[in-house]
Amino acid sequence: MSKSTQAIILAAGKSSRFQTDATKLSYTICGQEMIRYSLNLLKELNLKTTVVVGYQKDALKEIISDHGYDVTLSEQTSQKGTGHALLCTKEHWSAEQLLIINGDAPLITQEHISTLMERHKRTGATVSLIASHNADPTIKGYGRVIHDGTTLSIVEQRDFTGDPEKECILNGGIYLIKRSFLEEALPTLKVHTSGEIYITDLIKKASENGHHVEVVDIPFDYVRGINTLKELWVAERLIRSQLIDHWMNNGVRFVAPESVIIDADVTIGSNTTIGYGVHLRKGTIVGTDVTIDGFSVLDRAQIAHQVTIRAHSVINNSSINAQALIGPFAHIHRNSICHEKSVVGNFVEISKSSLGQESKAKHLAYLGQTDVGKKVNIGAGTITCNYDGVSKHPTTIKDHAFIGSNSALLAPVTIGQHAIVAAGSTVTDNVPDNALAIARERQITKENYVVPSKKTTIATPQERS
Ligand code: UD1
Ligand code: MG
Repeated sequence: MSKSTQAIILAAGKSSRFQTDATKLSYTICGQEMIRYSLNLLKELNLKTTVVVGYQKDALKEIISDHGYDVTLSEQTSQKGTGHALLCTKEHWSAEQLLIINGDAPLITQEHISTLMERHKRTGATVSLIASHNADPTIKGYGRVIHDGTTLSIVEQRDFTGDPEKECILNGGIYLIKRSFLEEALPTLKVHTSGEIYITDLIKKASENGHHVEVVDIPFDYVRGINTLKELWVAERLIRSQLIDHWMNNGVRFVAPESVIIDADVTIGSNTTIGYGVHLRKGTIVGTDVTIDGFSVLDRAQIAHQVTIRAHSVINNSSINAQALIGPFAHIHRNSICHEKSVVGNFVEISKSSLGQESKAKHLAYLGQTDVGKKVNIGAGTITCNYDGVSKHPTTIKDHAFIGSNSALLAPVTIGQHAIVAAGSTVTDNVPDNALAIARERQITKENYVVPSKKTTIATPQERS
């Protein structure tokens, strides 16, 4: 861990431009809360980190503890600006210099921070900051780095009166500052009419007092700050395209990359094809040689190699083993597992269940809390009735069993090995190994029921019975 540099994340702000109640730092970008981008970055850089929390601090504390980040916390009880937020961390300052990062800058990379550190050291700067050239006059929300010939300063948007096309270096909100200067200058910053202290006023103070201020100019897409929901969407698109780019470079084919939703913690094996509009969420792991067709949604799914998932399938928190065939329109969820070469077809729901090797449920079935053995055939329309209105009960279907179409298996119930359940049965009792269970009304056939000359006449209820 670096002794010369420590880091501060400013995360106490109110997020008022989001126009929602939640702190923007708890919003996810590609499945990861915004604040975790800065936390991960500083963890990778091995820097001792302090996070300033305030607005909705409990939500942020929960994210920090849930993911085990080893950081110290400071509190800013009233939101009096970025300078004031930094001041709230004073008791934790110990290193020679402080790296201060706005919590709403998720696109900055380790390479950029390394460049900032290297330039700061090489130039002997007192303050270094990351900025970006952007001549778009419509860009909003950024402070502008202004050099008036003698002094360097940052002018916030609300105070800026110059030409935005000429004065187009935008402040990225990432600073490396010598502690000795910070201790002396930060308490002297003025309080603006809004009641806020701006961290950015340190730049002018340093420059006026003859300190060197180093500006590291990087591409704008890396300095974007997220102040609005639209900016959140833009950041997510950028991060998503970086993720897709990464997986393409690792042999994954995306049929329509612009339509795919993918989270940061997903992994995909090579020679896999991802179809149009597929969602890959929350730590989903996809093996090699897998095909996932359009509009399928996978959330915490584990997909082994050579699996085929046909269109519109939904898999949540479940595993699909090698060479299984799933969908179209399958729903597999709640810790289910489909073993090697199993087949789950159209409109089949599998919940809290296990489908054995080479077993098939190809059409219109519901398996809930069911343990299905190997090479079992589940006929179309089979339902395991696992809920009696009060409690839920398990069903066991042993190897090689054959469940005829449109059967209802009333749990708790066990169907033995090689047993057969006749189509249309309502099974209430266990079926032993090798047995045939028929549990349905006998067919009544009324011969010569239809008189050919009356074919157009609908039978009365009396005639029908
Ligand atoms: C800030 C900069 C601006 C820069 C932009 C880059 C200031 C005054 N302005 O503006 O020059 O171009 O970032 O994105 O710094 N925060 C607190 N306590 C507060 C206020 C904010 O902890 O009282 C935190 C926020 O949670 C946020 C960060 O500081 O993570 C930045 O605050 P924000 O309000 O987004 O600043 P900007 O207006 O974007
Ligand atoms: Mg901001």
